[in-house]
Amino acid sequence: MASTACGIDIGGSGVKAAVVDLETGEFTTERIRIETPKPATPEAVAEVCRQLLEQLEVGPDIAVGVAVPAPVIHGVVPFMANLDPAWAGMNVDELMEKHLGRPVVTLNDADAAGIAEVAYGAAKDVQGTVIVTTQGTGIGSAIIVDGVLVPNTELGHLEIDGYDAEKRASAGQKTLQDLSWKKWAKRLQRYYSHVEMLFSPDLFVVGGGVSKKHEKFMPLLELKTPMVPAVLFNTAGIVGAAYHAARKAQG
Ligand code: BGC
Repeated sequence: MASTACGIDIGGSGVKAAVVDLETGEFTTERIRIETPKPATPEAVAEVCRQLLEQLEVGPDIAVGVAVPAPVIHGVVPFMANLDPAWAGMNVDELMEKHLGRPVVTLNDADAAGIAEVAYGAAKDVQGTVIVTTQGTGIGSAIIVDGVLVPNTELGHLEIDGYDAEKRASAGQKTLQDLSWKKWAKRLQRYYSHVEMLFSPDLFVVGGGVSKKHEKFMPLLELKTPMVPAVLFNTAGIVGAAYHAARKAQG
């Protein structure tokens, strides 16, 4: 595998990118960020990705991976929960290749985070079932069994008590509804105990910016499954996208 690759992570508030050292999972450039355009149409976001690559001066030999906040099934996004609905049905591989003028590998953002946590972080060498959830505008999920990812699991959209789970229990909703840690933890308890009942995981890894403040909510949860913060906090999307692109380029 190549020694470096570039990862881009498309989020609800910002699009972030960096070049990654694939040996260590650390950045070899600074991490740069451009606000997510409003409306976040596919073309507007792809243009931001182009600008990020230009700013990072990513050469043509470096593989590029793009993490998208939606399932990506053989390059196609079937629905988009938190960006412009125009993404639905779009082939994002083709969209990105057109705008970036080079081959691009796309994948779900939580799957990217899961891949990164397996390669460099909290899920490294963990046997059994690991569920990585990313807490942001939505809730992303990656299920990894003995190091192998089951892609596009979308556990943020489990329907619990009549609600789309991420509309109750995401970190984005905590901010939006100005919930205290205690109130949010109640919602997390309902969410993670349901996921636990369905999948009997061996480990939960919680990522996203809020995982930096894990001591505020993790001690409030009562689960049978151990839960740890992501090692890569909110950089896992970039790192996983880069890793995945390099692995694909290798064939
Ligand atoms: C999307 C997922 C994504 C998650 C985190 C959800 O709304 O459906 O695909 O992984 O948000 O961005």
